[in-house]
Amino acid sequence: MKALVLSGGSGTRLRPFSYSMPKQLIPIANKPVLEHVLENVKELGVTEIGVVVGGRLSQIQTVFGDGSDLGVRITYIEQEAPLGLAHCVSLARPFLADDDFVMYLGDNMLPEGVKPIAEEFTADRPDAQVVVHKVADPRAFGVAELDAEGGVERLVEKPQQPRSDLALIGVYFFTSAIHEAVAAIEPSARGELEITDAIQWLVTHGRDVRASVYDGYWKDTGRVDDVLECNRELLDGLRPSVDGEVDAVSTLIGRVVVERGARVIGSRIEGPAIIGAGTVVTDSRIGPFTSIGKDCVLTDTDIEYSIALDGATVSEVRGLRSSIIGRFASVGPAGQDTPHHRLVVGDHTRVEVAA
Ligand code: DAU
Repeated sequence: MKALVLSGGSGTRLRPFSYSMPKQLIPIANKPVLEHVLENVKELGVTEIGVVVGGRLSQIQTVFGDGSDLGVRITYIEQEAPLGLAHCVSLARPFLADDDFVMYLGDNMLPEGVKPIAEEFTADRPDAQVVVHKVADPRAFGVAELDAEGGVERLVEKPQQPRSDLALIGVYFFTSAIHEAVAAIEPSARGELEITDAIQWLVTHGRDVRASVYDGYWKDTGRVDDVLECNRELLDGLRPSVDGEVDAVSTLIGRVVVERGARVIGSRIEGPAIIGAGTVVTDSRIGPFTSIGKDCVLTDTDIEYSIALDGATVSEVRGLRSSIIGRFASVGPAGQDTPHHRLVVGDHTRVEVAA
């Protein structure tokens, strides 16, 4: 079996970060979402992975190279415009040939993995097997309607009035039958070739399409709040380790990771929390549920339930919560005797100031 991981798309819901980086490189527990996805694919025993990328090939390639650091072999497939998930399948045809494959959306996190579902697919080889999860409001997702035996009766992309609470959660298993379906469908109202429509084509043409329920934690990391929530969930399973330096007056509480080259000085770190390599934390309180990236500087600060990306600086600002601070961004005090706030805020940035 091969894998096709989709890492193109426009990422408009993750602005401003997606202006300068593909959304799949946003770190969750200090690792890009895409790295979590590739590790998940590898757990299925699949090492031959096609990664569909949009205009950000070089950034993704710089991080993952040919995949050998993760023990997989990556073939990059460039998509000029985000024309839909089924468009990705047709672009990847030369890579996929007639092999069975698992398709994984590069921004969906299923930390518990889908190994048992992959094993079912490999044993029975239906034409398609989708992974679904019960959600409270399915309107933002593809929705599966199942018959009494669990067979797929109908799939609808983002229905206004969903007839089931089972959302498609970004993992699909296919035999080569999907290629005929992809070739047969037309773009949807939003102008995309929808994989949901291609799978529906298989259903309509009497092919064997099954659904398996994934009960574990799942998150589509498409929006800032989803990223923070997912970070919180993953940090919950953190294994503590201290490879950096922590001075005698600092306190580490609970599950804390201090990566190599990081320094914690006169501070209190409340786990679960990660202090990234090369970061310096001075006179601060960090955590819980906080990931600080590499080479950040935090001074006289108090931050919780948050993510700081590599190279961020925060000083003399207290009470930060549920925040994401971008790469090399700086949050700090106004100059002496300045009674005003001063903001240099990029496009589509959100700043919320407590009254
Ligand atoms: O998150 C699960 C949902 O993902 C499913 O329930 C929907 O059925 C499915 O259509 C999809 O919906 P989204 O609107 O959330 O898809 P999004 O545009 O976020 O794209 C999903 C991933 O695929 C993301 O990593 C970007 C990548 N992508 C997307 C498009 C449209 C591509 O690589 N190329 C594309 O053309």
